[in-house]
Amino acid sequence: MEPNLFNRKGWKRCSLGPDRAPLRCDVKTGFILLLTSAFLLTAVAYVSEFSLKSAVIPVTWYKKVLNKTHTYFAVIENPSPSENRTIVLAPNSIQQSPTPQIPSQTTEISLHHVAHPSNYHFILDEPDKCSQYDPFLVFMVPVAPHQVNARNAIRSTWGNESSVQGKAVLTLFLVGLTRGSEAQQQLEEESQQHRDLVQSNFVDSYFNLTIKTMVIMDWLATRCPQANYSMKVDSDMYINVENLMSLLLKPNTPRQNYITGHLMWNRPVIRNKKSKWYVSEELYPEPKYPTYVLGMGYVFSNDLPGKIVEASKKVKAFNNEDAYVGACLKQLGIKPSSPPDSSQFRVYMGQYKRENFLRVITTLLGSPQQLVNIWKDVKRPT
Ligand SMILES: *[C@@H]1O[C@H](CO)[C@@H](O)[C@H](O)[C@H]1NC(C)=O
Ligand SMILES: *[C@@H]1O[C@H](CO)[C@@H](O)[C@H](O)[C@H]1NC(C)=O
Ligand SMILES: *[C@@H]1O[C@H](CO)[C@@H](O)[C@H](O)[C@H]1NC(C)=O
Ligand SMILES: *[C@@H]1O[C@H](CO)[C@@H](O)[C@H](O)[C@H]1NC(C)=O
Ligand SMILES: *[C@@H]1O[C@H](CO)[C@@H](O)[C@H](O)[C@H]1NC(C)=O
Repeated sequence: MEPNLFNRKGWKRCSLGPDRAPLRCDVKTGFILLLTSAFLLTAVAYVSEFSLKSAVIPVTWYKKVLNKTHTYFAVIENPSPSENRTIVLAPNSIQQSPTPQIPSQTTEISLHHVAHPSNYHFILDEPDKCSQYDPFLVFMVPVAPHQVNARNAIRSTWGNESSVQGKAVLTLFLVGLTRGSEAQQQLEEESQQHRDLVQSNFVDSYFNLTIKTMVIMDWLATRCPQANYSMKVDSDMYINVENLMSLLLKPNTPRQNYITGHLMWNRPVIRNKKSKWYVSEELYPEPKYPTYVLGMGYVFSNDLPGKIVEASKKVKAFNNEDAYVGACLKQLGIKPSSPPDSSQFRVYMGQYKRENFLRVITTLLGSPQQLVNIWKDVKRPT
């Protein structure tokens, strides 16, 4: 079953072929017109480099969403169930992307051999944080060393929620190596001040996100086994901690072998070497990924990190971090669960409406400042 491709009047089910294959889709004229105008608007916005407020999806969002989903389709979810819409983006519109990263043979080989976390050690660490706070829930946020604004925005918003519904919550940031001693110095000062940074000795790059995710799992397994649940969440996400806590405290939420979020089913592996999301047949031979949870924000019972690290010894690493976690789960025989209300894990929310942010668990945001602004508004007394 394809997620988020809704079947309703005028919106027929579409499916995407493997990489660059034509879109197999049977749609009504209205939809084609909508698609065409979406592409035109995108092209115009792209060329003139300013965001069109009236566009179906602003170009900045369109890029972000694609970046997060590692695939050739973007989902526009509308908060009102009667207005669900899915926009499928044609492969050639992505080719305009300014810097397609072509992984070289050497990085592929190095990733294959070095993704297991035992190859790394922590430069900055908070080994006693969990025994000190005894958290029920831990947020682990992979972030680049220079993204101090993103960290500060989180620290002043959802990362500052230390007790929710009587349960302790912790937020930690995971970074790789900095580029230079001055940057390292700054990072160490930040660590002294906030005591929430964990740094590992791999080169912090987009290609190494799989390593970063596995290091997060390793940290949770070795430094925080007492936590009940964890969430791996990107630094540009909004979290409604109350709603997440309510989900985790439901009596029927499993306490073990549980992982949930925005599920991806039957996603084809991208074999176009020009794509940023290219994964070679050598690294991952099957044409489709196993069911996985979108990497921007997934929640799991805290028995899983140790199991995933163990399984990763038997699963060849590839540079698509969330699908890689999916492959480790498949190796363990664990199936990701759909959240009780899948509209609470959203990719894109459209224009800001307070009531929607009161209802979701997580969604993608545009900037650290937007997180701060939205948080203020969501938390204001009514
Ligand atoms: C895509 O994601 C990477 C890693 O998170 C980030 O460095 C990059 O800036 C993102 N690109 C866009 C267009 O959002
Ligand atoms: C819209 O999506 C929600 C959640 O995914 C679903 O429950 C609802 O039935 C959908 N509505 C329509 C009209 O397809
Ligand atoms: C976190 O919240 C407390 C109040 O609960 C507040 O005093 C503190 O300034 C907040 N921290 C940040 C970084 O905003
Ligand atoms: C990380 O990525 C960079 C470039 O993307 C690469 O040179 C490096 O070898 C990778 N691996 C580690 C362990 O840092
Ligand atoms: C959380 O985990 C502890 C053990 O680490 C356990 O005693 C407790 O019952 C768990 N709480 C819930 C609500 O699952």
